[in-house]
Amino acid sequence: MERTRFHTRQTTFRQLEVFRAVAERLSVTEAAHALHLAQPSVSTQLGKLELALGMALFERIGKRLFLTNAGREVLQGTRELFAALDRLDMRLGQLRGLTAGQLCLGAVTTAKYLVPRLLGPFCKTYPDVEVQFNIANRSEVIRRLQANLDDLYVFSQPPEQPDILSIPLADNPLVVIAPARHPLAARARLSWADLADQPFISREAGSGTRRAIEQHFARFDWTLRTYMTIESNEAIKESVAAGLGIAILSRHTLVHTAPGNLVELDVEHFPIANRWYLVHWRSKPLSPVADAFLHFVAQAEALLKTNA
Ligand code: PGA
Repeated sequence: MERTRFHTRQTTFRQLEVFRAVAERLSVTEAAHALHLAQPSVSTQLGKLELALGMALFERIGKRLFLTNAGREVLQGTRELFAALDRLDMRLGQLRGLTAGQLCLGAVTTAKYLVPRLLGPFCKTYPDVEVQFNIANRSEVIRRLQANLDDLYVFSQPPEQPDILSIPLADNPLVVIAPARHPLAARARLSWADLADQPFISREAGSGTRRAIEQHFARFDWTLRTYMTIESNEAIKESVAAGLGIAILSRHTLVHTAPGNLVELDVEHFPIANRWYLVHWRSKPLSPVADAFLHFVAQAEALLKTNA
């Protein structure tokens, strides 16, 4: 009997997209979350794909999922297929001479204070562009970059790899913050030793802010004793304002804080010098929209000037 070819076996792009999301996370729950689907629909799509191919793509051992050999092949093929479709889309876009389409931007949590300042005027200039802005902490955005999920990324600590291009955007100073009524708030030129007994509130492991702080402390051989770990800059600011402790955050996070709640302490060897970068794979052909965004950002220096 003649075997049917892959594309005639009623395999849909949607099934492959769902498969890729699960295969890259090895979790149906996380893939469902990322795709905004219910878990049963993800499982149904996977079931249909396995049925159409006549092969199991995953093995479940206990609670963990593993790709089978066939699954690994299908993942590789799916990536190649979607990359080819992206290139086709790009060529058609160039033929149309339009800058319409989707811009997928992955950004670290703290960059959410900066990126909208660029996206606002960009979207006014290109009203047909649909932006997908994916925000997560540094380690999660690195995972997105490694899986090639977005067009461009914003980091302050991009991974150092020769095949990754990092274009400097703006300063991202990290400052020590305390509640406005803190007894040390009025003192000038504090040293870290003056603050060492203060309860310190830190971002979570995997955060770029935390990584930059740890590197800074290692440079000076200071000890950092974390009293509380919180995953959100906003919740850290609220906790500091409520008197729970002091923290080190990007000055960008303070831009919309009600005046009078928090102060930046004047501490020797602060702010920690840091920088924002726009990042992409050197070898990834950029879509016309992503290319337009890169050019827009290069000309938009004024938008990046903040009170930071
Ligand atoms: P974070 O990243 O939001 O994960 O702390 C900020 C950064 O990379 O500086």
